[in-house]
Amino acid sequence: MALTDFDLVLFGGSGDLSMRKLLPAMYARDVAKDLPPGSRIICVGRHEWSQEEFLQTVESTSKPHVKSVAEAHWAKFIARIVYVSLNATDAKTYGTLVDVMRPDPALTRVYYLATPPHLFAQICDNLKEAGLATPNSRVVLEKPLGRDLASAKQINAEVGKVFAESQIYRIDHYLGKETVQNLLALRFGNILFEPLWRREWISDVQITIAEKLGVGNRMGYYDNSGALRDMLQNHLLQLLCIVAMEPPTSINSDAVRDEKLQVLRSLKRFTPTTLSQNIVRGQYRAGHVDGKQVPSYRDEPDAPEHSRTETFVAIKAEIDTWRWAGVPFYLRTGKRMADGLAEIVVRFKPIPHSIFNQPTSSFQPNSLVIRLQPDEGLSLNLMAKTPGDSMRLKQAELELDFRESFKSPRMDAYERLLLDVLRGQLTLFMRGDELEAAWEWVEPILDHWEKEDSVPTPYTAGTWGPAAASALIGRDGLQWREEALPED
Ligand SMILES: NC(=O)c1ccc[n+]([C@@H]2O[C@H](COP(=O)([O-])OP(=O)(O)OC[C@H]3O[C@@H](n4cnc5c(N)ncnc54)[C@H](OP(=O)(O)O)[C@@H]3O)[C@@H](O)[C@H]2O)c1
Repeated sequence: MALTDFDLVLFGGSGDLSMRKLLPAMYARDVAKDLPPGSRIICVGRHEWSQEEFLQTVESTSKPHVKSVAEAHWAKFIARIVYVSLNATDAKTYGTLVDVMRPDPALTRVYYLATPPHLFAQICDNLKEAGLATPNSRVVLEKPLGRDLASAKQINAEVGKVFAESQIYRIDHYLGKETVQNLLALRFGNILFEPLWRREWISDVQITIAEKLGVGNRMGYYDNSGALRDMLQNHLLQLLCIVAMEPPTSINSDAVRDEKLQVLRSLKRFTPTTLSQNIVRGQYRAGHVDGKQVPSYRDEPDAPEHSRTETFVAIKAEIDTWRWAGVPFYLRTGKRMADGLAEIVVRFKPIPHSIFNQPTSSFQPNSLVIRLQPDEGLSLNLMAKTPGDSMRLKQAELELDFRESFKSPRMDAYERLLLDVLRGQLTLFMRGDELEAAWEWVEPILDHWEKEDSVPTPYTAGTWGPAAASALIGRDGLQWREEALPED
């Protein structure tokens, strides 16, 4: 669907997210001829830069993040950018934005709030007061969307006073990844998987988002947040929803989001006892990542000396439905891990009997691996005959690489999500009730940790987290994927 003319307003237009991700994504869509000729990107910040000074900043800070720059195209792209200086918390300064916005009611207006979240409510109020929250407007909210249920409800309520739910785009960039949509295509565009996609045939699901990086310069935010709030409540639960949801009646936004909501509402609630058995919380100590010595979390710049913030969390979750009862969903995320990757592994049950001259225990159960990072891809692990005379079976990987089939270039997650916002397509964005349902499930965990004054278990940087995370899955007779990989 072709885009109609738009003004995209980036609050936080001078910040890291805009420079590293949003502007390069818009450039890529401009090169792909998706952007209508007159459309503009209005970058907002407090800094009193002239237009020229801001464009120099874009040149030095954003351009290096563009994958491949064609100078003539770049010149055309930056001609779309307008810089506006205002203080988001001061309604009186919004006149500068009013002056540059085009009043045409046929024009799509998008306000992308790439700012700290405590500004969301005030920005929305001030847009309304300035007459800028028009019916043709949309607002995009970046994470973190709250730090508990109450604050998430407050954001929903405050933004909801100004914009209707159909105008609100809560972004989770993992949903913009090509392979996540390919998982939807695989599940609901083929007859092959759906009959097997249930407790009778699936043994377990693992979802991992592991980073090699530490906290970097985000300590102020991270130490107040931790792995559960920063990664699990949003990204991991959203991926779990895509794996576990029932077939929606259509790909329309509410049909998909209704089904995701049902998954979140069906997650088994933890009690204080089940919580300590099924959750591992860790914090990295000094170690080596890629052969380089790295400090412990508490020795990172600006870290509180006795911080109890978790940099790792692993959870065994269960979904109380006919389809999934009894199937463990292992979720884990951590910083300073052995590898940087994001993947979903759906493992099927073992074969019931071997007709070959090798025991059933030598058969690796089939698994579907959905890789989201560092590269995107899908692979299906099957047992196959090794070449040669003997009838010996070994695991082989069937790479489902659709690039050859389709040839068209892949899109980065932010490119796709920005296009969806500009098209008014909400399917890949969280609805307010989904956000609250995710917090409802997570909050008892946070409350328990706080009440118990729980201390995260230390793990050495450059490993896969505390040994307790292996024990968590090992108790069920299973292993994390990297532990189960067959040796060559
Ligand atoms: N960076 C990422 O990769 C990433 C990824 C996911 C989510 N996020 C989220 O996106 C948001 C922005 O992150 P970031 O890393 O880009 O932060 P950042 O580099 O600190 O940028 C913050 C931006 O907000 C603007 N700002 C702050 N207070 C303002 C005010 N009162 N009025 C007008 N503008 C104001 C700043 O402009 P001035 O300095 O000119 O005031 C700056 O452009 C955060 O909520 C973050 O959690 C970031």
